Amino acid sequence: MTGYEQADRLRRIPPYLYARLAPMFAERRARGWDMIDFGIGDPDLCTPPCIVEEMCRQAAVGENQKYSTSAGERDLRIAVADWYRRRFGVDVDPDTQVCITIGSKEAVFNIAQAFVDPGETIIAPSPGYPVYSGAAAAFTGAECVRVPLRPERDWLLDVDECPQGARMLYLNYPNNPTGATCDAGYLRRVQDWCRDNGTIMCYDNAYSEMCYDGYRAPSALEAGPDCIEFGSFSKTFNMTGYRLGYAVGHPDLVAGLRKCKGQTDSGAPIFVQKAGIAALGMYGEDGRPPQAIVDNMGVYSERRRVLVEGLRELGFDVRMPKGTFYVWFDCGMSSFEFTERMADLGVIVTPGSGFGDSAEGYIRMTVTEPVERIRTALERMGRGSYE
Ligand SMILES: Cc1ncc(COP(=O)(O)O)c(C=O)c1O
Repeated sequence: MTGYEQADRLRRIPPYLYARLAPMFAERRARGWDMIDFGIGDPDLCTPPCIVEEMCRQAAVGENQKYSTSAGERDLRIAVADWYRRRFGVDVDPDTQVCITIGSKEAVFNIAQAFVDPGETIIAPSPGYPVYSGAAAAFTGAECVRVPLRPERDWLLDVDECPQGARMLYLNYPNNPTGATCDAGYLRRVQDWCRDNGTIMCYDNAYSEMCYDGYRAPSALEAGPDCIEFGSFSKTFNMTGYRLGYAVGHPDLVAGLRKCKGQTDSGAPIFVQKAGIAALGMYGEDGRPPQAIVDNMGVYSERRRVLVEGLRELGFDVRMPKGTFYVWFDCGMSSFEFTERMADLGVIVTPGSGFGDSAEGYIRMTVTEPVERIRTALERMGRGSYE
């Protein structure tokens, strides 16, 4: 036996970005270095206690220990629909337009399995969340066309650069990795273009609640129902490990996603979904976030300010992002070379090129370290040495 060969479609997908970088950081940690981590986008803050308490309470109820359904619990679907009304002023039917997902990553992947045939085209932004161009495209046998996001267009995808006749388009604002944001008018133009071209608009709104300086991210559904939007509890409520999200949109698209999920999973755990109801219930009738979320965003906002200002003092041209917890900048050399140099300072960053070739020369830093450690990282960068 010589080992097992992976299927062609799996071999075509590059290893996940962090799997490629991990040895570089692990080797320094093994030497006892204190690595200051601005890498992966996983909040370091805790889930609001009332959500944790609700999940524990619900986990003890026998009925909640059974299988859920791939559409999700109806009471959470109603809660999501009600949240859309309060937060975005959009009315959706919880029975036909909402599907509960096991985080948004699963939905990003499964929507392509549900609607894209081999040989069709998927449009994915470059830079962009790797699942759009990697797994989603490779598992359908589709061709993925990467359309560059450009700094001179504020990192907004230009539909005039997109191929006509594509089956699916992925779009994501507030944006990972650039931190760029958009307004409802922009989403209306993209939705019009998709409708005119017979392209399914998949709007990844995983960072809708991670906003600063008075900015409030819109929903693609504000522009109309001809799209599907993915949302997540992960970043809003510091719930990445719970694996809970939602897909909302056109009934046909939601039906396809549900059917696909019906063959692959049995839904998120019921007690986690019940915790999701408690989380959305924290929002006010006017759609305003609760104090716990405002406080979290205040922490990220201050870290973002310290990091951006510090990088500017070091000579980098950095924009202050209005959304996400990512700081994105041109490092003036190859992304991997800069990442290696930073690793030698005990600082973990993500090379922008990992999000698409067109982002070569860029770096993403996530503000998941406290302010004092951000200052220490900036000091190391200023002196050019670990100690
Ligand atoms: C743009 C984007 N979409 C989706 C996800 C997946 O999030 P989750 O599956 O935790 O909801 C992420 C995670 O980092 C992301 O950056």
